[in-house]
Amino acid sequence: MKYLLFQPEELEELMQFLEANLDENYNQQVFLKIQSQWPDGFAIAWRGGKMVGVGCGALLPGDKLRVLVLVLAPGMQGHGHGRKLLEMLVAAGHKRGCLRVTLEARVDSEAVDFYRHLGFSSVDLLPCYYQDGGDAVVMERPI
Ligand SMILES: CC(C)(COP(=O)(O)OP(=O)(O)OC[C@H]1O[C@@H](n2cnc3c(N)ncnc32)[C@H](O)[C@@H]1OP(=O)(O)O)[C@@H](O)C(=O)NCCC(=O)NCCS
Repeated sequence: MKYLLFQPEELEELMQFLEANLDENYNQQVFLKIQSQWPDGFAIAWRGGKMVGVGCGALLPGDKLRVLVLVLAPGMQGHGHGRKLLEMLVAAGHKRGCLRVTLEARVDSEAVDFYRHLGFSSVDLLPCYYQDGGDAVVMERPI
């Protein structure tokens, strides 16, 4: 597995990957903006020349790192790659002075247990946060 920073020319593959692996619809321009604002906070996992994982974050006011996307292709889950991508974002955030990392996850998803395992606590609930009406839990952890 190779972990590399996202490059704008990979946008089409990124959009195909996210469409195949996440429920939400994303505007592709948003990812170019995120990349241009903070290239170090946008990591891709590659295997055999294929995109198999994405970790993408943004710097928030108040010394916070927000994880916007963290997803592995189904066949690649459970092998430490999610942890690795998250650690890359956290290390990049740490370099920029972030003191906390925050994210949203579906209340009823396994991702919540994953983040709890990695030291995150629930700090808020966002009703109807997702496009299908699902609720999100806001989770945080010190860096
Ligand atoms: C959630 C997700 C990103 C986790 O990535 P992953 O590569 O499968 O997880 P890892 O293998 O890196 O797991 C890291 C650690 O968390 C633990 N873990 C993983 N999933 C877990 C779960 N559901 N419950 C509890 N612990 C879990 C692992 O056992 C491992 O522990 P260890 O390092 O102490 O041995 C990935 O499964 C995924 O993409 N899921 C679908 C999309 C999704 O839900 N994304 C999050 C949206 S916010």
